[in-house]
Formats: sequence, C-alpha cells, structure tokens
Amino acid sequence: MMKQRELFGSRFAVIAAMAGSAVGLGNIWRFPYVLGQYGGAAFILVYVVAGVLLALPIFYAESIIGRRSRSDTFGAMNKFAPGTPWRWAGLITIVSPLLILCYYSVVGGWSVEYLFKSLSFSFTDIPAEKIPALFNTFITSAWQPVVSHTVFMAMVAFIVLGGVKSGIEKFSKLAMPALLFLLLVIVGYSLTLPGSFKGVEYLLKPDFSKLTADGISAAMGQAFFSLSLGVGTILTYSSYVKKEENLMVSGVGTAVSDLMFALIAAFAVMPAVFAAGLEPGSGPGLVFETLPYIFNRMGTGLPVMTTFLSAIFFLAILAAALTSAISMLEVGVAFLTDEWKMNRRKATLLLAFLCWLVGILCSLSFGPLAHVKLLGYTFFNFLDHLCSDWLMPLGGLIFTLFVGWKMSRADVRDEFTNGGTVNRRLFGVVYFLMRYLAPVGIAVVFLSNLLL
Ligand code: PHE
Repeated sequence: MMKQRELFGSRFAVIAAMAGSAVGLGNIWRFPYVLGQYGGAAFILVYVVAGVLLALPIFYAESIIGRRSRSDTFGAMNKFAPGTPWRWAGLITIVSPLLILCYYSVVGGWSVEYLFKSLSFSFTDIPAEKIPALFNTFITSAWQPVVSHTVFMAMVAFIVLGGVKSGIEKFSKLAMPALLFLLLVIVGYSLTLPGSFKGVEYLLKPDFSKLTADGISAAMGQAFFSLSLGVGTILTYSSYVKKEENLMVSGVGTAVSDLMFALIAAFAVMPAVFAAGLEPGSGPGLVFETLPYIFNRMGTGLPVMTTFLSAIFFLAILAAALTSAISMLEVGVAFLTDEWKMNRRKATLLLAFLCWLVGILCSLSFGPLAHVKLLGYTFFNFLDHLCSDWLMPLGGLIFTLFVGWKMSRADVRDEFTNGGTVNRRLFGVVYFLMRYLAPVGIAVVFLSNLLL
C-alpha cells in the first residue's frame, strides 16, 4: 500500500509553516535597509501593490499546483504534463532553493555565532566602539564562520528529519509566536531610546522623489524573495495542505504576516540605529555590526541588559532563519522521497551535506577565498545574484505560465474554489492575474535586471 502523505494538522499550522518560510533574513535585515533607500513609506506602498498584483498570484499558482498534485515540483509538472519539458522546468525549482540554502546557511551561522557571543558576554567586556569591527574579523576568519555554518545546517537537517508534522509544523508553530514576542521586546526598547523618533519618521514619511524605476523593481524583487516565491517552497508546502483549507486565506495570511514581520523588524532596527546616530544604509552589516553596538552603548551601562537584549535579538534572527531554511531543504527532500523513493533520513542528510559543502565555499568567500571570482562576483554574491535576480523570477514565470496556460481552467478553478464552494467570485480576477498580469510583471523584473 502507498504510504499516506503527511499533511499539516490545522489552519494555524499551515500559516505558521508558510509564514515561517516567508519571514526570514529577508525581513529582518534586508527590508529595513531597502525601505530606507527607496523612500520609506513610498516604498511600502509599491511593495504592497507589487505584493497583491504580482506576488500573490504566483503564490496561488504554486498553491494550486502543489495541493492538486500532492507532489514535489518535478512530480507535479510530470503529473499534469507527462513527458513534456515542463518537468525539467520543475527540476530547476528544486535546485534553486538548495542553492539558496548554501549561502543562507552561512548567514544563519552568523546569527548562531552572535547569539553565542551575546551569551558569553563578548559584547560587554569591550568598549562599544570596538564592536562593529568584530563582525569583519569574524566573517573573514577561515574556520569560525564555517563552524557556525555547520551548526546551523545541522539544526536545519535535524528539524527536517522530524518530518512534516513533528518536524516542520511543530517547530514553526513554536518559533513564529516566539519570534513575534522577541521582536516586540526589541521594538519596545528601541522606541524608548532618546532620538529614536527620527528612525520612525524615516520609515513612515513617504519620499516619492526617491522612488525611482530602480526602486519599483527593488520592491518586486523584495516581494519575491520575502514571500519565498518561484523556488517551489510554497508549492511543496501546499502539497501538505488539506483539501478543506481555503488557499485564498492561507495566501493572504502568509502575505500579511510577512509584511507585518517586516515592519516590526524595521521598527526594531531603525529607531535604534537613528538614536545611536548611525548610518542606516549599511546592508548585511547593519544588524550584526550596529545592533550589539547599540545595546552596549545604550544598554544603560548594564552588562546584563546588553547581554539580554542582544541575545534576544540574535535568537529572533536565528528562529526566523531556521523556519526559512527548513522550507528550502524540504523542496529537495520531497523530490527525493517522492520520485526516487529514498527514505526521508537519507534524503535529508544527503542534501544537507551537499549544501553544507557548497556553503563552505560561500563562507570562505569572505576571507581566504575573497579573491576567487565568478563573473566578477565572489562565490557568495554569485549565488545570491543568480538565485534572487534570475532563478526566482524564472520559477515564478514557470509556475504562472503552467497554471495559466497549461493546466485546464476547470482544474485550476476546482482547486482554488474547493470544488466551487469558496472564493467563487474572486476566481475570475485571480485567474486573470495568474494568466496575464503576473507573467508580464515578471518579464519586467527580468528586463530591469538585465538593463539596470
Ligand atoms: N523568504 C525568506 C526570507 O525572507 C527567504 C526564502 C527564499 C525562503 C526562498 C525560502 C525560499 O528570508
């Protein structure tokens, strides 16, 4: 008898897992910084419009394919378009999340190290001014970041080994509320600092003059990355969603949570950055270099306070990174267990090991391998550029074209409306967006990546 596919237990579980995948480093370090660069509230506006018109349709396309096929991305394509090149397109979306995992795990490892540093009082024993430099010393060293990357990847593998229900679902249900709580503690602290108001203004005051064409394409890119789209994670998680769940609701629930977490993270980080009179636009270094500095300088001189705040902050980043990373690994595990009938244990360990190996190169590309370049990029930056600028939009295009033009309209409608019982009126609009608007929007992202 065929083994029953594991399914998520409840609506909360579905949203926790999907929002867990969506909410990650993209929200905590990337969003606040990009937001400031492209005109604050003006950027949020474009981001929300891009989210509704472009990202949600892709989300629904993935959800429909995933739940209808109850299969991994390759198997899904093969089921609905047997023997056609579509399955090779499906295969791309299995490789891309694994590629993301390779370098994502390196940054996840940084949060492990920074949590450890916080707890071992490393940020209290030295003068605040010396803290930002610690980051560079750490990431350029040969072995330390590799060890942290190893610890992070081991945690990811451990959770995925537990399976859909007792691994992914259980962890996400625990981590997401905890993440919300931890970030709110930091927001509370950040907003009470003298001078923090400037940071709030920076986030809320729309500056339309900064909203260039570049900003619009950045908003689309951010929506893609932040909602984990085009890499089969939403498709794979949807294949574990029960028939009775409303796909419309899980999509909106995930997108709203993702935006909410991005805003909360922005309000945790930016007011503190302004209060300390620091530069808000310094990218990945922002949270690692400046936050512990702020906690030390402004932690009212109490080592316990500094330790407590920075431990909470890096634990939050770690939790967010873990729930995203497990969704990347699960795509490949689903493929190996569905298609090659490998057992979960073997599939998980094999893929985690391969990503770990490539991740080592990414980690070393900040230090001993910094001079090795691929098309002018270091290893880490090459993978990031390849995945976020090319493979993610490509995957989004594949999924929307598949649902809009390859699957029958009746099948798509049946899946989205749960056999005509829900979302009947909205279907027409969503179908139009999936069939026409989303592919055109993605083409625009491609062109802008090519030309800008
Ligand atoms: N959405 C995640 C984040 O914001 C990243 C991610 C990309 C997760 C692709 C899964 C797949 O950090």
